Amino acid sequence: MKPVRKAVFPVAGMGTRFLPATKTVPKEMLPLVDRPLIQYAVDEARAAGIEEFIFITSPGKTALENYFGAAPALERTLSEKGKTGPLEALRPSHVAEGAVSFVRQENPKGLGHAVLLARRLVGDEPFAVILPDDLIRARTPALKQMVEAHSKNRGHMIATESVCDDRISSYGVVDIERREGAVQILRGLVEKPRPEEAPSQSGVVGRYILEPSIFERLAVQGPGAGGEIQLTDAIAADIAETGVNGFEFDGERFDCGSVSGFLNATIAYALDRPDLIDNLQGFLRGRATGLSQAA
Ligand code: UTP
Repeated sequence: MKPVRKAVFPVAGMGTRFLPATKTVPKEMLPLVDRPLIQYAVDEARAAGIEEFIFITSPGKTALENYFGAAPALERTLSEKGKTGPLEALRPSHVAEGAVSFVRQENPKGLGHAVLLARRLVGDEPFAVILPDDLIRARTPALKQMVEAHSKNRGHMIATESVCDDRISSYGVVDIERREGAVQILRGLVEKPRPEEAPSQSGVVGRYILEPSIFERLAVQGPGAGGEIQLTDAIAADIAETGVNGFEFDGERFDCGSVSGFLNATIAYALDRPDLIDNLQGFLRGRATGLSQAA
């Protein structure tokens, strides 16, 4: 059984919900507290034992490529000035050369198409896909939970969470045959169903562990919902042959692709920080009092 050593980060989307910021700054580089969104995804992958990082980027996202490189001039200056704190803060942003690759998706043809572009770099082994937009705050990082579950349940594995009725038609939705703890053995998967046609209340979120057979499916997959090549459709097509499990992770997900989700995540992560919590709590209490007096 091959271990999960590689992770694909599809970051070639247009980020239209964050315009005008994303006109020049990639969504994944927007700072959440004091680090870009992409850093959280890479930290989660590292915690799950990932050794190779494959980014599917688009033209205009060079800031993202530069972010993971070394910064010798900056490091030298900080070191000469004895600024050990800032030097330490830089460390997680550096991924060793040879462990990081960038593949261009020239046109945003869909998440499935983006994943297919990693085929040559992934080769014949299971791999993780992380959508940095879906930020998961968890005691045990979500991908680590999944890697452990995947070692006992082969086949594709997709993270799921409970979604309310009025949001279900924005998600891929799983059709569950049976449950074994946090693992859902699936018999089907539907992309963006109408609420009355949704097979369950479990929606797919942005963590996957995929077997290499997914590439053969994606290579012949036509456009689906929204005219895009959908990853969900290719996974659904592979249910009978490879098997697909849902995984109900233990954690709290924020949709950082939306402005409101990004704001909520910023507050939640800032409240986790001992150096920021007192100031933020005081500020929020003051605002809450002001709001209740105005109401
Ligand atoms: P989204 O559906 O959130 O699209 O993509 P988006 O372009 O990033 O954002 P909006 O909706 O315009 O605001 C989900 C994930 O799939 C990637 C995105 O970068 C994001 O991580 N993606 C999507 C690609 O890499 N390529 C694509 O063609 C489409």
